[in-house]
Amino acid sequence: MLSYIIHINLTMQDKFIIFSLFLVLFCPFQVISLYQPFNEDMLGLIVFKSGLEDPKNKLSSWNEDDYSPCNWEGVKCDPSTNRVSSLVLDGFSLSGHIGKSLMKLQFLQILSLSRNNFTGKINHDLLVTLWNLKVVDLSENSLSGAIPDELFRQCWSLRVLSFAKNNLSGKIPESLSSCYSLASLNFSSNQLNGELHSGMWFLKELQSLDLSNNFLKGEIPEGVQNLYDLRELRLGRNFFTGRIPENIGNCLLLKMIDFGDNLLTDEIPESIQRLTSCTLLNLQVNFLNGSIPHWIGELNNLEILDLSSNRFSGSIPSGIGGLRSLQVLNLSTNNIFGSIPVSIKELKSLYVLDLSDNKLNGSIPLEIEGAISLLELKLQRNLLGGRIPVQIAKCSALKSLNLAHNNLIGSIPTSIANLTNLQYADLSWNKLSGTLPKKLTNLTHLSSFNVSYNHLQGELPIGGFFNTITPSFVHGNPLLCGSVVNHSCDRSYHPKPIVLNPNSNYSNSRTSLQNHHHKIMLSISVFIAIGAAVSIVVGVVAVTILNIHVRASVSHSGYPFGLSGGEDNSFSPEKDPKCGKFVMLNGDIVEFPNEVNNLLKEGNEIGRGGFGVVYCVVLRDQNFIAIKKLIGSSLTKSQEDFEREVQKLGNIKHQNLVALEGYYWNSSFQLIIYEYFSRGSLHKLLHDDDQRKIVFSWRARFKVILGIAKGLAYLHQMNIIHYNLKSTNVFIDTRDEPKIGDFGLVNLLPILDHCVLSSKIQSALGYTAPEFACRTVNITEKCDVYGFGILVLEIVSGKRPVEYMEDDVVVLCDMVRSSLEDEKVEQCIDEKLVGYFSPEEAIPMIKLGLVCASQVPSSRPDMADVVNILETIQCSSEGQQEEIQ
Ligand SMILES: *[C@@H]1O[C@H](CO)[C@@H](O)[C@H](O)[C@H]1NC(C)=O
Ligand SMILES: *[C@@H]1O[C@H](CO)[C@@H](O)[C@H](O)[C@H]1NC(C)=O
Ligand SMILES: *[C@@H]1O[C@H](CO)[C@@H](O)[C@H](O)[C@H]1NC(C)=O
Repeated sequence: MLSYIIHINLTMQDKFIIFSLFLVLFCPFQVISLYQPFNEDMLGLIVFKSGLEDPKNKLSSWNEDDYSPCNWEGVKCDPSTNRVSSLVLDGFSLSGHIGKSLMKLQFLQILSLSRNNFTGKINHDLLVTLWNLKVVDLSENSLSGAIPDELFRQCWSLRVLSFAKNNLSGKIPESLSSCYSLASLNFSSNQLNGELHSGMWFLKELQSLDLSNNFLKGEIPEGVQNLYDLRELRLGRNFFTGRIPENIGNCLLLKMIDFGDNLLTDEIPESIQRLTSCTLLNLQVNFLNGSIPHWIGELNNLEILDLSSNRFSGSIPSGIGGLRSLQVLNLSTNNIFGSIPVSIKELKSLYVLDLSDNKLNGSIPLEIEGAISLLELKLQRNLLGGRIPVQIAKCSALKSLNLAHNNLIGSIPTSIANLTNLQYADLSWNKLSGTLPKKLTNLTHLSSFNVSYNHLQGELPIGGFFNTITPSFVHGNPLLCGSVVNHSCDRSYHPKPIVLNPNSNYSNSRTSLQNHHHKIMLSISVFIAIGAAVSIVVGVVAVTILNIHVRASVSHSGYPFGLSGGEDNSFSPEKDPKCGKFVMLNGDIVEFPNEVNNLLKEGNEIGRGGFGVVYCVVLRDQNFIAIKKLIGSSLTKSQEDFEREVQKLGNIKHQNLVALEGYYWNSSFQLIIYEYFSRGSLHKLLHDDDQRKIVFSWRARFKVILGIAKGLAYLHQMNIIHYNLKSTNVFIDTRDEPKIGDFGLVNLLPILDHCVLSSKIQSALGYTAPEFACRTVNITEKCDVYGFGILVLEIVSGKRPVEYMEDDVVVLCDMVRSSLEDEKVEQCIDEKLVGYFSPEEAIPMIKLGLVCASQVPSSRPDMADVVNILETIQCSSEGQQEEIQ
């Protein structure tokens, strides 16, 4: 073999390797050791090198011409024996196998090959042959296969062993427990599986054990308390179940404990109280429960305390202020309630405070000012009320502030502009009011400042971040103005009032009012804006009732003019049947001249429908109210009946029903006064082109559906059938709360038959329950459930109940039903929601919509059941999200 090779043209190095191999393979040990330059160490290293890729030429100094390898890069020798004792090649970008040749280095004590690209298996003879090895670090390579059981047959010298960050699989060998000198063991970030055996706790010298980020499972075995010297225990990111070891507190020197991201249950063991040296306690993402121990404040060396994403309940113990060294406190996503303890002012080193996603109430304590090192403050998704404390400005290092989804009120303190390092702030979904402080423009690092869904008003600041702000930072603040929100500040803030004086403008109809200064201030610009923007709204009108100045002089005119108490309620203007009576249900009575007809002139009209025409007027105090002029008087009941029915409807109050505030009656026409909603109807929100830019989020849609269900359930409980549920009859207030309008009006009209109901009132295409077509079937409240089902599909899909395509008609309900059958129901969800909805909610929601829209009335659930179902859908999907986190 040899002679054959020598015939080929070989380099010097090749020859050397071949010669070496020849010696290794065929010569007895004595021969080689006597031959000095080719001592075993050199031989082993050269052969080792020959099997490697060395792209950075890091091993160029490894030259066979040297008489000894002791000066080679990464090699150290013991001066007394001149044998290689240490081989440290960390980060040399070497790749290849860790071959047998290294086993020639009989006197090796330290072998560190970390941060290379070694592949293949770990040789099971490594430690047996190199029985002097004290340190073995093969971390951050690409080693694979199992850790061989035989590896630890002879490992008594071993102090440090790390195979971290490789691709090792299989179980942790039981034989490991014989390496009783081990002080540090790190197998983290591999794919090790199986259970942890209790032999691990025989390693009495162990100071640091890191098995995190593997696939280990089962319970953590008893006995960890035997490791008196243990300082660091990391078992995080595995699949451990059961409890945290009860006696872990016996390891009194423990400084770092990481059990995070496992499946651990039960409470935090009492014994941890003794671990006063502890600096890190990470129990995040488990199923731990019970309260946060009151003694936690005694672990006064803690720097990081992370109990997030568990099931802890109870309140935050005030002793937490004792953690003077605390840098990170994360209690987010638990069931913690109560208020934030004022003792946080003691936490001078704290730079991350995350209490988000709990049920915390109370207000943000002004003692927050003590936490002067804070970089990140996360309190979102709680029930915090009160104001944002001005003192927050003292946390001058703050970079990130999240207070979203709380009930904060008051204005945004100008002092926030003192937080010069602020980069990110989310104040969305609160009840903040007032204007945005102009000084915010001084925050030069600001890249996100979200105040969506509050009650802010006035002009958006100009300058700094606000020059590049997009509408999605300020959504849901209808009173904010500025070019970004497409809302000119002049129009909304200083409506140009005009005085409608009946004396001059409406002189053709004489009334007793002529001698009184009766001024009605209306804003024409508002009329035009609203009139143009609102499409077919059936349900709500606004009227101005302004009479206040003339009340005193009413009596001499001979009419019961002005406001009065209860007695005047029954008065009817018999002297002039044309002159009607305006009644506010809160007790005030206002007479109206015939000019009411002029007030309800076309410019104010905002909609038309089965029950009549809808108008809108502004009151002098700039409030809007809405008025509906009922259809044909011939259908109308007597005044008495009418008033009785209206009073009844006025008593129906629910947060999801439009409030009826008053009425007007005369023999020729009748009016009903309602509260007015500036955002308009659900129909407008879903289908109006102008609204396209505005995000109608999944959360908001869910809220709207649930609200409609609650409103309807309440109506049905009061024995009122709506008959005419559709998206133009549902209004959305600024908090996304839906308000059902136009209910109960059927009772104001005399005898109606199915014919009238279906042709005049139930006119809305697509919402009409099939039983309306069948004269023999009794119409029950189940016709509303049908309409509700269609509404659900409309809200989820963003499509009209019936859409006319070029040469096709698409009936929403049929389309969704067949998508469900084809298992493609997700395609029905509004494309604007793609990526932003929760399928755990959306799919059951669609199914619910279809059940409600069943052809047979008896197959449709009651609205009360629907409310329960919706709440269950919401809960279970929230539960799932919790588990995912
Ligand atoms: C390691 O080696 C593999 C296979 O040879 C190669 O794909 C990979 O890029 C290498 N990684 C590094 C960090 O050198
Ligand atoms: C904010 O800064 C201004 C001027 O720099 C200072 O007068 C004011 O006291 C500061 N406010 C707070 C709460 O620190
Ligand atoms: C602001 O917050 C709202 C509500 O949470 C959210 O919908 C919107 O996307 C946020 N905007 C930005 C730019 O992050």
